[in-house]
Amino acid sequence: MTAAAGDRGNGTAMEIRLTVNDAERVADVAPTTTLVELLRDHLALTGTKVGCGHGECGACTVILDGRPVSACLVFAAQCRGRKVLTIEGLSASGEADRVQRAFVKAGAVQCGYCTPGMIVSAYALLSSNPRPSRREIEEAISGNLCRCTGYVKIVDAIDGASE
Ligand code: FES
Ligand code: FES
Repeated sequence: MTAAAGDRGNGTAMEIRLTVNDAERVADVAPTTTLVELLRDHLALTGTKVGCGHGECGACTVILDGRPVSACLVFAAQCRGRKVLTIEGLSASGEADRVQRAFVKAGAVQCGYCTPGMIVSAYALLSSNPRPSRREIEEAISGNLCRCTGYVKIVDAIDGASE
């Protein structure tokens, strides 16, 4: 059952307002609705993925008030009045962000399931540290698991996207 379906049967649903990708959004959520459920099931922003559902894989990484977070660990109600940036927000202009382009150029995408979270983590890193070392890149994506690539091309991509 999706969170949206569950909320309809939950008398404790509450309205929250928040900013997602620079747009004000309103949703009715249950106290137990997570941020990733809000994004995917209520706001149809399915670029953010769900892997483990308990903070281990990084597939659900989004930026909350400027900091990367695992959206499966944050309740939607905690995001009231706050700003969320998702993978969709990185290409809101219709053009791929430089980090996205760098992933394609470096061949850092295989199955792609980890890629949105990986790119969001990389975007957060480069926003605060435009010229990270490879060590700093590895640390920044240490919470993002990839079962396909071996990480070398991912680090190459982020290195290539840095200034
Ligand atoms: S789905 Fe959130 S960390 Fe794995
Ligand atoms: S590309 Fe498949 S999990 Fe990373």
